[in-house]
Amino acid sequence: MNDASSISASEPAILVESLVRRFGSITAVDHLSFRVKAGVVRGLLGRNGAGKTTVIKILTTLLQPTSGTARVCGYDVERNATDVRRVIGYVPQALSADAELTAYENLLLAAKLYDLPPKSRERRIRRALELMSLEHAADRLVRTFSGGMIRSLEIAQSTLHDPAVLFLDEPTVGLDPLARQTVWEHIKRLKAQQRCTVLITTHYMDEAEHLCDEVTILHRGRLAAAGAPDELKRSLGATATLDDVFAHFTGADAEAEESYRETSRTRHIADRLG
Ligand SMILES: Nc1ncnc2c1ncn2[C@@H]1O[C@H](COP(=O)(O)OP(=O)(O)OP(=O)(O)O)[C@@H](O)[C@H]1O
Ligand SMILES: [Mg+2]
Repeated sequence: MNDASSISASEPAILVESLVRRFGSITAVDHLSFRVKAGVVRGLLGRNGAGKTTVIKILTTLLQPTSGTARVCGYDVERNATDVRRVIGYVPQALSADAELTAYENLLLAAKLYDLPPKSRERRIRRALELMSLEHAADRLVRTFSGGMIRSLEIAQSTLHDPAVLFLDEPTVGLDPLARQTVWEHIKRLKAQQRCTVLITTHYMDEAEHLCDEVTILHRGRLAAAGAPDELKRSLGATATLDDVFAHFTGADAEAEESYRETSRTRHIADRLG
């Protein structure tokens, strides 16, 4: 229905500018800016609580920003929420398929929600089942599925309508190596076909390296680093790994730097107050 080419060349698929989201006294997203070009697979990395899911929920219109701008395919997430919902696919962090329906019924529900023409529903559902290696389980209740099968089904649901932008929040957590491989292959196929732009969160650095053209690293809601995995590794030295990059921008070094800044700030204020 939508493809990457439907996005104007000048318009990034995702645009985030000075985005802020607060929950009471917690600032989950803190003046974050980044943009993702159409057709790219972008990883969103960061430690637990860094703000990744909050960013995805804002981009998928499930949460309102406190301030700042977020646009998907040129549509503002607040003013044009219905348009945003039409062009995206979303696999949430928590499992979301209906356990009391079969795989086929779950896909049919998604087809109806996305308003796919009745004539093409059956064909698309069969194709989606095949792509995720779930043909044999089409008529089984999802409550009898393994975690990996549920995740595969959810990815099939989220891509049934050929979204222009796909949001995947930790899509491979808890999957065995073969199930992970199936998910990876599906994402790589989407990328090869230039079918959509993908924003994916993961805690697996091998996954980020394998799948992502670029990564954005968040630390406490703020942008800590961004670039191609190879570029970021090179910036730390010839033998650096993506784990090193992650640790450098979000780990002990960053904590130390933050606490140093905090101490300096306190001292500075103390000095001023005499
Ligand atoms: N509905 C909410 N109410 C209050 N605080 C929230 C809410 N949602 C998120 N937070 C807080 O916002 C911060 C960012 O949470 P978020 O879920 O975006 O992190 P994350 O990077 O996705 O973490 P993880 O890797 O554990 O999934 C955390 O401090 C979290 O406790
Ligand atoms: Mg999360």
